[in-house]
Amino acid sequence: MKQLLIKNIKKLVQTEKESQPYIAGAQMATLPSIDDAYLLIKGPYIHAYGQMSELDESALSADVEVIDASDRLVLPAWCDSHTHLVYPKSRDVEYVDKIKGLSYEEIAARGGGILNSAKLMATASEDQLFDDAMVRLQEIIQWGTGAVEIKSGYGLTLESELKMLRVIKRLKEASPLTIKSTFLGAHSIPMEYRGQQEKYVDLVINEMLPAVAKEKLADYVDVFCDVGFFTVEDTDRILEAAAKYGMTPKIHANELDYSGGIQVGVKYNALSVDHLEFTGEEEMKALKDSGTMPTILPGAAFFLNMAYAPARQMMEAGLPVALASDFNPGSSPSGNMQLIMAMGSVLYRMLPEEVIHAVTKNTAYAMGVDKELGSICVGKKANVVITKPIPGIEYLPYAYGENKVETTILNGLKI
Ligand code: NIG
Ligand code: FE
Repeated sequence: MKQLLIKNIKKLVQTEKESQPYIAGAQMATLPSIDDAYLLIKGPYIHAYGQMSELDESALSADVEVIDASDRLVLPAWCDSHTHLVYPKSRDVEYVDKIKGLSYEEIAARGGGILNSAKLMATASEDQLFDDAMVRLQEIIQWGTGAVEIKSGYGLTLESELKMLRVIKRLKEASPLTIKSTFLGAHSIPMEYRGQQEKYVDLVINEMLPAVAKEKLADYVDVFCDVGFFTVEDTDRILEAAAKYGMTPKIHANELDYSGGIQVGVKYNALSVDHLEFTGEEEMKALKDSGTMPTILPGAAFFLNMAYAPARQMMEAGLPVALASDFNPGSSPSGNMQLIMAMGSVLYRMLPEEVIHAVTKNTAYAMGVDKELGSICVGKKANVVITKPIPGIEYLPYAYGENKVETTILNGLKI
């Protein structure tokens, strides 16, 4: 099997002897790493790592490819556990409305926002959606992402939701990224169902879920459980139905209010609850030891000018914190996880160590790939980044405008 040796690494970051599912609380401030290190990749997997002085050159094959990473750091590629990156068109028009003062809810109430994307989705071709999404995937690889979750939710009809999920299925096959798909039929209430949204929930449960399950199009199920969108009762019904198909939830929760979304997510063993701007003592108590990953989406809070989720209090309460991009045309039009790291640090006062855990190990857990990705661990998939020459890990969130990644390696191959 083909060998790739990365040698003279200034710092090999996020090493693990045995993979733990996630890192929580005070532990997030400690980041295991090795100075002056090597990393040996065999085929698509991490084969060995350690200090340069321990490298056994006699174990290398004659045709081993060698990369000299002097002055550079090597880290696990970022896992982005929450995106909506299959979409028909940007929504920059609404952006100007937002600057003029309209809120996310006001734009949604007048049929803009998600419904605007849904209207465009109805006529978008599968090929065009696929091509556009592939360009976005290429872009996020350049910024160092190695795994990404992608949601449906701009369809809002059976046909359009299936179309989106089929595009995601094709992306899984065509892209070197590790991709997980999430069915988000309950993303917004179509205009014709306003005032009788339980009928739309019926449609999600009785028509969409069975069709999605039959074609095996989704790894997970999501609901936007928030004020003006889906209620706790709606969410409860959808998650109960999804459980019958073995679909684990990942929930949009507590972005706009104390919606009860966190608690209902925990009730159904959600893999993650995401956004979390409105998180208090009760919500944190529900999350403690639940196995549900609290996931903050700094891009959306920044772009919508919202209050920031209490990341520090969560960690002080012993909770893990994950950070994802929420890449979407309405509330976070960027999939740049390095920018998310900078936001996590500047806006949420997270330390560089905490931020790195939050975009690698903890997001790997939040998208159900923690056993195969998220750390430098023997046997895991070799999805790693080599930085440009940089002083240290602090430089990653500090230099927020530049791309610090020089090379992204996915499945053991340089991209
Ligand atoms: O995660 N909050 C709900 N859904 C998306 C927004 C999608 C959109 O506005 O297009 C989000 O921010
Ligand atoms: Fe989202």
